Parts: sequence; C-alpha cells; structure tokens
Amino acid sequence: MIWTNDPTRWMMVAGMSVGYALVCLAPYLRVRRKRLAAARARAEAAASPGWIVSYASQTGNAEELAQQTAATLKLAGIPARLCELSELGAADLQGAERILFLVSTYGEGDAPDAAAGFAGRLMTTALPLPQLHYAVLALGDSAYTHFCGFGRALDQWLQAQGAQSLFPRVEVNRSADEAIGLWRQQLSHLAGTSDAPDWSAPAFEEWRLRERVRLNAGSAGAPIYHLELEPANGALPAWQSGDLVQVAAPADPSRAREYSIASIPADGRVHLLVRLHTHEDGRHGAASGWLTQQASLGEVVPLRLRQHRRFRLEGNAERPLILIGNGSGIAGLRGHLKARALAGQGRNWLLFGERNAAHDYHYRAELDGWQREGVLDKLDMVFSRDQGERRYVQDRLGEQAEAVRAWIAQGAAIYICGSLEGMAAGVDRTLRHVLGDDGVEQLAAAGRYRRDVY
Ligand SMILES: Cc1cc2nc3c(=O)[nH]c(=O)nc-3n(C[C@H](O)[C@H](O)[C@H](O)COP(=O)(O)OP(=O)(O)OC[C@H]3O[C@@H](n4cnc5c(N)ncnc54)[C@H](O)[C@@H]3O)c2cc1C
Ligand SMILES: Cc1cc2nc3c(=O)[nH]c(=O)nc-3n(C[C@H](O)[C@H](O)[C@H](O)COP(=O)(O)O)c2cc1C
Repeated sequence: MIWTNDPTRWMMVAGMSVGYALVCLAPYLRVRRKRLAAARARAEAAASPGWIVSYASQTGNAEELAQQTAATLKLAGIPARLCELSELGAADLQGAERILFLVSTYGEGDAPDAAAGFAGRLMTTALPLPQLHYAVLALGDSAYTHFCGFGRALDQWLQAQGAQSLFPRVEVNRSADEAIGLWRQQLSHLAGTSDAPDWSAPAFEEWRLRERVRLNAGSAGAPIYHLELEPANGALPAWQSGDLVQVAAPADPSRAREYSIASIPADGRVHLLVRLHTHEDGRHGAASGWLTQQASLGEVVPLRLRQHRRFRLEGNAERPLILIGNGSGIAGLRGHLKARALAGQGRNWLLFGERNAAHDYHYRAELDGWQREGVLDKLDMVFSRDQGERRYVQDRLGEQAEAVRAWIAQGAAIYICGSLEGMAAGVDRTLRHVLGDDGVEQLAAAGRYRRDVY
C-alpha cells in the first residue's frame, strides 16, 4: 500500500468510521433518548400526588370518557382519583396538582344537573389555584347557541384563579371522534405512554322492530308511538331502568338520536315511546320519521344501549320516588315503575302532564293496574286542555307543596323525564319555591334529584 504511512489518510479513514458508527447509532440513541424521557415523564407524573380526573355529565358521555381517561393514566402507572365534579370542594382544588376536567353542557350553556352546585358555589368565588395544572375536555353540540358553554366557563374561571392549563381546551362537537382523538393524544403525551387503549364507542347492533302502535290517535299533539324491539341476533343484553338507547337512522347515521327505554329486561324487549317530529316545512324528523312512519315491522334498526347512570335508581332503590314528566317522558318513568313493581316497592308518586285525557292518557290500563296493586301510591294526571285555563304538572306540584315536603322528609328522590323547556324548567322553579334553592341543590348533590330531559 502506498498510503499506509500517510497520517492524513489514516485520520480520514478513522473519521469516516466514527461518522459511520454515529449514523448507525443515531436511531438507537434517538429511541433511547425518547424512552428515557418517557420513563422520566412517567416517574414524575406518578410521583406527583393529586392527579384527579373529574367529570360533569348528564347522559354519560363525559363520564365514559373520564373512565377511559383514568384507565389510560393507570396503564401508564399513574393512579388517579376519578370523581364527579360535585365531589370536589375548595380544599380538593387547592390541594391538587393536576386535574383533568371532562364536562358537558346543558340547558342554555349551563352545567349538567349534578354540577350545578359546583358552578353556583365555587365558580362564583375567588379561589387562588396557582399550584394547579389542568386540562378541560368540553362536550357539547354546536346546534346550541352556547356551544360548550360550561366547559368554556370552567376553563375561564380556572385561568382567572391562576391555574395553568396543560394544553388548550379540547371541544367535542356531538361526540366527534377527531376531538376525542386529540384529547387521547395529549393525554398519552402527558402520561409518557404511546399505548393508550382504544376508546371507540361500542358499535351499533342490529335490532328488529317487532311492534309499533300509535298511542294518541285523535290527539291535538304530534303522533306518539309505542315501539318494541328485539336483538336480531343473540340474547337480550342487560340494562337498568333509566337507561337510554341510541338509534342511527339511515338518513343521518352519523348523528345518533337518544330515546329513553320504557321497559325492563324482564319484558324481553326494549320498548320506546317516540314522538313524530315534524319540521316547519312539513318534513319529518330524520329518526322519529323513520322509526314511526317508514321502517316496517321486522326491519333492522341499528341501535345501541347506553348506561344512563344519572337517571338510574341506583342508591335510590330503597327510597320513596316522586316521578314527574310529560309527553314522551312517560317512557323513562314507566321503566322505573316497572322496576319498582318487580321489586315490590310501592312508595311511588307519579305526576304526569299531557293535553287531553280522551287522547293522551298513555298506558292508562297499566297505570290503573299499578294503582290497584299498590305500586302507585299517588297519581296526579294533569291534562292541560281539559278545562278553561291551561294547567301543567308544575302547577299541580305547587298546590301539593305540603305533600312534596313530607315525601322529601321521608327520604324521597325526584325523577324528571320529558321536555326541558316546557316542563322541567317549570318543575325546577316550583321545587325551588317549595324546598328552597339550597334544598334543591342538596338533593341534586345527593343524587336525589335526577333528570332525563331533552
Ligand atoms: C336524553 C334524551 C332522551 C330522549 N328521549 C326521547 C324519547 O323517549 N322519546 C322521544 O320521542 N324523543 C326523545 N328524545 C329526543 C330524540 O332524541 C330526538 O331528538 C327526536 O326524536 C327528534 O329527532 P329527529 O331525528 O326525528 O328529528 P331531527 O331531524 O333531528 O329534527 C329535530 C330537531 O333537531 C334539529 N336538527 C336536525 N338536524 C340537525 C343537525 N344536523 N344539526 C343541528 N340541528 C339539527 C332540527 O332543527 C329540529 O329542531 C330524547 C333526547 C335526549 C337527548
Ligand atoms: C337538553 C339538552 C341541552 C343541551 N344544551 C347544550 C348547550 O347549551 N350547549 C352545548 O354545547 N351542548 C348542549 N347539549 C349537548 C350536550 O352537551 C352533548 O350532547 C354532550 O355530549 C352530552 O354529554 P353527557 O352525556 O356527558 O351529558 C345539550 C343537550 C341536551 C340533551
């Protein structure tokens, strides 16, 4: 070799060898650096006390996502306390270092029922929170004027208290997958893990429409139908009174519609009560039109059951119940009455409002039977158009203030099902008049005031 003794050449060869080694090692070093950083993030996260995952949910979407959020943290070795927003007091907020809030919006930009106390008590005060790092997942529907109103208000309040956001608020429009994906991504980053479990919602199953009967022929109101459905394949799944179904209508499958279940598993079928919705231009609603006018008996209906924890009996199973509703709201209340009949629990008071007794007395024979059998202790049917002046359930409730107070003193829980604006808002006002604001808020915080309203 001519150049064996040439030091410059030797240096070039050595340099190239080192360079080559570095090129080969770089990906390994990158991965190792990443792994170390992730391990460090995990260790720091696990070592820092006070991770809380807190939710405010009405129909269970935010609650479900909160459970998945807590499970993802657990998978990354980070224990987190999962709780309802209403369970958090000032001391919890001031003691925590990291809180992930998952909250939906109801009414007109308001908090879900169970979080009304938190919003009213804490979010109206100044509470220094400089130690707190937080993130907000806000659930809502952009069809409403105050899109994600409560999530936004919570975020703004936390900012104003000096808390620091871990990443910008994520807003979810009608359970859109992309926004939920973004939250998962941020969460994985935060927890130093890449193996977040799959969060996709349970798939729609095939059910068959087995029965459809119009309940209010001749009514001044829109047609209302009793529907019965069975799984097309396999056994009947379990559910509890108070739960909901979601139906994906062929005309709008990406936006599922919710319906309260009017039966219990012992009935062998899912019963629904569906009011036909008609738009101003005469078109029928996408889901209610299909279910009540187009789908034929035996046709497949894509449906999934949804736990509706906030409207279940749960801890109230032993309490007397005051059940209040109107229109298709009898669906959710009928589910509870069936469960009570099965359990032999007779302390039930039903207050129900519709238009005319002659056409709108839904499930009359069944209600009469329950009265005879002692399942219905007290029944108040209020027909708004059967007398000169209009009268509604909230009016009857107000007249019975003494009885309401007596039932509540005996430990009763209140369940409301039906229209939010026409009925639930009026009933809420009356209850506040009869029991006081504090009384109503205490009932709500204790899970004794539950609503399935829409
Ligand atoms: C928790 C819960 C329980 C319910 N339980 C029952 C029940 O037991 N019985 C019952 O009859 N109903 C129930 N509903 C109402 C039901 O889910 C449907 O909203 C109703 O049947 C009307 O749906 P539709 O498809 O027929 O009408 P749609 O075609 O959805 O029209 C209804 C309204 O939605 C608006 N709208 C329609 N499409 C859109 C869109 N893409 N974006 C924004 N706005 C739109 C329209 O302006 C109209 O005001 C419940 C709702 C909730 C949230
Ligand atoms: C009666 C009613 C009122 C609602 N009001 C609002 C609202 O004002 N703003 C909004 O963004 N979403 C509103 N929503 C949509 C809910 O926030 C949305 O469906 C959310 O996914 C529900 O989550 P949850 O199951 O955790 O309660 C409303 C929904 C219902 C049924």
